[in-house]
Amino acid sequence: MEAVSCLFPQGGLSKPLRGLYLEQELHKQAAVDDVLIYSNYIVSLDGRIALWDSSTDDFSVPKSIANARDWRLYQELAAQSDIMLTSARYFRQLAKGCAQDLLPVGKGKNHDDLHAWRKQQTLTAQPDVMIVSSSLDIPLESLAYVSDRKVWVMTTSHASAERKQSLQAMGVTILIGGESSVQGDVLKKHLIDLGYRSAYMIAGPQIHHMLLQAGVLNRLFLTTHLSLLGHDAFHTLLKGELKPIACELLSLYLDSQGQQMFAQYHIAHT
Ligand SMILES: NC(=O)c1ccc[n+]([C@@H]2O[C@H](COP(=O)([O-])OP(=O)(O)OC[C@H]3O[C@@H](n4cnc5c(N)ncnc54)[C@H](OP(=O)(O)O)[C@@H]3O)[C@@H](O)[C@H]2O)c1
Repeated sequence: MEAVSCLFPQGGLSKPLRGLYLEQELHKQAAVDDVLIYSNYIVSLDGRIALWDSSTDDFSVPKSIANARDWRLYQELAAQSDIMLTSARYFRQLAKGCAQDLLPVGKGKNHDDLHAWRKQQTLTAQPDVMIVSSSLDIPLESLAYVSDRKVWVMTTSHASAERKQSLQAMGVTILIGGESSVQGDVLKKHLIDLGYRSAYMIAGPQIHHMLLQAGVLNRLFLTTHLSLLGHDAFHTLLKGELKPIACELLSLYLDSQGQQMFAQYHIAHT
């Protein structure tokens, strides 16, 4: 695998792709009684993270930018998490057979080292899962994919009692994160109370907004694929009203082989 070139900090060395994000040790970065929350996206130069796909009647990550080299880093971020934060939409896509992948850490020999690494770090075999949803429209059969780990559903006090019961019967624990929508600060408090130290947010623009608005997202990992996609029906990595938030660049690598750049930002909530 071709190495990636360090563009920032200046004077940084080229590094092998494998291990580039694993060396962050994100599971050890939170202060005492705190949790580190981080997000990760792959985006085109014109800002698309997902395009409408008429064949699945849904949005999905554009096939022309999704690639194995970025996926390796996605998996490395997953490997460092105690818990992954996702949306009910992910489970709806999973039930339709069009989700990007099963929740990591992936199976197969490409990811054996990550499983061994988690074991060595005394982390659980797989990160737990927290699903954020107001509707609780979560196909019950899709939960079979994550039956090997603890699953939480973070919803609102208005959520359907019947749907809550069906989920509880599947072994899911329901948490309340707000009245009409889940609030980022409440979600974070639950994570801390449950003892989680690193949380990897893999959902889209709404949940990203909820965390950023509450000032609880700490890091953004952003892969920019060097291509322009156009298309009118798309998602970008954030939607909704927000006061400007400064992002401090921590590192930037050029991946010539994959025609993409890997950036890491510290989110400076003031
Ligand atoms: N390129 C990339 O790196 C990347 C990464 C992530 C996602 N994506 C793509 O982005 C697209 C959108 O992803 P997504 O649907 O997961 O994104 P999202 O916009 O973050 O989540 C949407 C769903 O999450 C729930 N939700 C969001 N905020 C909530 C709140 N404050 N309180 C309660 N529930 C809330 C709602 O579920 P209910 O409707 O059940 O209430 C809502 O329908 C997908 O096509 C995905 O593939 C791309």
